[in-house]
Amino acid sequence: MLPTFIRETTDRTEKGDFLALDLGGTNLRVFRVRLTEEEQKKPKLDIEQWPISKKIKEGTGEQLFDHIVDRLIEFLDSQNLKGQTLPLGFSFSFPCEQKQIDQSILLCWSKDFNCSGVEGEDVVKLLKEAIHRRGSYDIGSVAMVNDTVSTMMSCGYWDRSCEIGMIIGTGTNACYMEKMKNVEYMDGEDGLMCINTEWGGFGDDGSLEDILTEFDKGVDNTFENRGEHIFEKMISGMYLGEIVRLVLIKLTEEKLLFKGEAFAALLTPGKFETRFISEIEEPDSGLENAQQILAKLNLKWDLVDARVVRLVCDTISSHSACLFAAALATIANRIRLNRELDYLKTAVGVDGTVYKSHPTFRNKLQKAVPTLAPKCDIKFLESDESSGVGAAMAMAVLQRLAQ
Ligand code: BG6
Ligand code: GLC
Repeated sequence: MLPTFIRETTDRTEKGDFLALDLGGTNLRVFRVRLTEEEQKKPKLDIEQWPISKKIKEGTGEQLFDHIVDRLIEFLDSQNLKGQTLPLGFSFSFPCEQKQIDQSILLCWSKDFNCSGVEGEDVVKLLKEAIHRRGSYDIGSVAMVNDTVSTMMSCGYWDRSCEIGMIIGTGTNACYMEKMKNVEYMDGEDGLMCINTEWGGFGDDGSLEDILTEFDKGVDNTFENRGEHIFEKMISGMYLGEIVRLVLIKLTEEKLLFKGEAFAALLTPGKFETRFISEIEEPDSGLENAQQILAKLNLKWDLVDARVVRLVCDTISSHSACLFAAALATIANRIRLNRELDYLKTAVGVDGTVYKSHPTFRNKLQKAVPTLAPKCDIKFLESDESSGVGAAMAMAVLQRLAQ
């Protein structure tokens, strides 16, 4: 439950020219975002994007930040922006303790990042040091935000009732607007403060023990950060394929699949990719996709096997959607009770590859939420411009408030 120093979402009067960086689970993106005064106008965007290699994810912090700054400088060159000092929003998808909006200490890496020398350090300082190493650009003021916060900010531009931001992609997390008087670590009673829940780490103290399956425990054992980000490992994109693989092994051992023969692909961690789940659950072509995937994995399958694999994928993605719904329902109920409301009408901004690419995840989620939060009417807003825009908006709101 980390305070983010974001006290308001946009009121659409913000204007100006901003830069944004977005370091997510998969890609690095650089943005130029222009907000104009004209009401109802879409922000003007220029974007460039690069996948983040395994080498960068596992290298040194210096290499990571040099890489980010090199891409930023390339972008500035292509936009003829060199020499201008624009304010910058930085969406950083990892757990940070914010000391200020421009001072953000990385608590620990999550997902599959493990760059040395960054944990415990101020990420904004590391970014500025890398900029100075390059020597050719001077950075303006910086607003550092989590990807859930930037998702909430970008969806909030279109719907002012948006006060929750959620990600279900490589990892999972949510933020929401809390009453300042409930934020224990901060002075001040008035207004609101956005809280980054880092709910991916829920369960790290053993509190989910009762609902962990043998497959969840198996997945936890497969990854280096054992015992960490337990809730994330139960539901997010980086782990769902692995959960399915472990269920398939169990069914094979019980001679319910592949005539009891566990082939190499099934026994190799990571071989059953999460994107297969989406392909196998496609309503029209799913069964055919399942057959092609099983053939590509060199498994000896028949039609019943393909149907069972489809059923397993559906079970695991439904389990993920229901747990995600339970976590959202908890936040919505908390907002409702804090505001002493009988009924809460609110909106939530959502992003991430699982939500966007899985054919039925959003339906499963939206079906489960009303059962779990019957006193909340939650509208789902999809962020289509990615977190960079929201990071720029966070910077724009801060500038408006400062004026
Ligand atoms: C993207 C954001 O749209 O969603 C990222 O721009 C964020 O910053 C992400 O982390 C979640 O994506 P993924 O790659 O984990 O599915
Ligand atoms: C991980 C990160 C968190 C981020 C989430 C979604 O859980 O710790 O900060 O918001 O992934 O990308």
